[in-house]
Amino acid sequence: MENDLAQSSEELVLAFLAEAGDEFVSGEAISDKLGLTRAAVWKHVESLRSHGYRIDAVPARGYRLAEVPDRLTPLELRPLLNTHDVGQVLHWYEEIGSTNDRARELAEEGAEHGEVVIAEAQTAGRGRRGRVWASPPRKNLYFSVVLRPDLPPARAPELTLVASVAICEALRQAGVQAGIKWPNDLLASGKKVAGILTELAAEPDRVSWVVLGVGVNVNARIEDFPEELRAEATSVLIERGQPAPRALLAAACFTAIEDWVDRHADEGFGAVREAWRERSVTLGREVVVKVDGREIAGTAEDIDEGGALLVRGRAGVERIVSGDVALLRPAVRP
Ligand code: BTN
Repeated sequence: MENDLAQSSEELVLAFLAEAGDEFVSGEAISDKLGLTRAAVWKHVESLRSHGYRIDAVPARGYRLAEVPDRLTPLELRPLLNTHDVGQVLHWYEEIGSTNDRARELAEEGAEHGEVVIAEAQTAGRGRRGRVWASPPRKNLYFSVVLRPDLPPARAPELTLVASVAICEALRQAGVQAGIKWPNDLLASGKKVAGILTELAAEPDRVSWVVLGVGVNVNARIEDFPEELRAEATSVLIERGQPAPRALLAAACFTAIEDWVDRHADEGFGAVREAWRERSVTLGREVVVKVDGREIAGTAEDIDEGGALLVRGRAGVERIVSGDVALLRPAVRP
């Protein structure tokens, strides 16, 4: 299912009910506001019910949205979005190989800034460094955002940190005490709750497109992860002890990505760097970083003005632009 920018009457009825929250709204109020006949309002309510929405109807009081289905189609997501770009064009799939692969294709075909590919399941979900990203159906979030930043290729890695700050913010709003492990792993209780895979194409002087691929473990239980990942993976459900509505979390992620991408474009990397430092669980820690088959051990001191990690080891400070960080104990400060 894909969608264009115009909201259907059904989406408008749903948005109206969603906005009213726990309150009943009369059929008359809906038809007046949306310019629909009462019969058309009833038809849309019936159609929404057939898609799994529970809508109470009480004579003389009207309609009330009692329950929404746990799906991520445009019908569920659009009424929740308050973005101007991110997610306004939404490509939804029940199952796909990888949302990043589809977003890359769309970007090559001319997709606009902010278009999102989202899926209920991935059969070939990819993580960083060729790893597999576990993507069981309807448990988690798997989405990729196409960005068209006005940036030289050398500054593209900054967007990886921009995305990690945004997803950290959305997780914290959802009640998960998340922190960022350099460059962009989201950890909670020391385990991975979300990951970001950034891919791009560039001309010599500017970036053509960036695809931010985001996987958030939302309602997965520990047995939903492959056995070899169970010791290092967690989810919003595991952290909070209760499931989270995926559509709300997706909408919060889109808003946070848009806010931070805009801020990065307007103010530069400085503001992002400050926010990243505040949310970091890497800085001040003893780390071992694997870089091209080499291991660098030392204290993670800071990130520089380009987002590279600065590690003070025996040979002095090393500047690391890409690598895999293992966190050891907190640094011993004199
Ligand atoms: C990592 O931490 O290794 C990055 C994981 C990124 C996973 C997401 S899920 C949506 C998008 N599609 C993919 O195939 N990968 C990213």
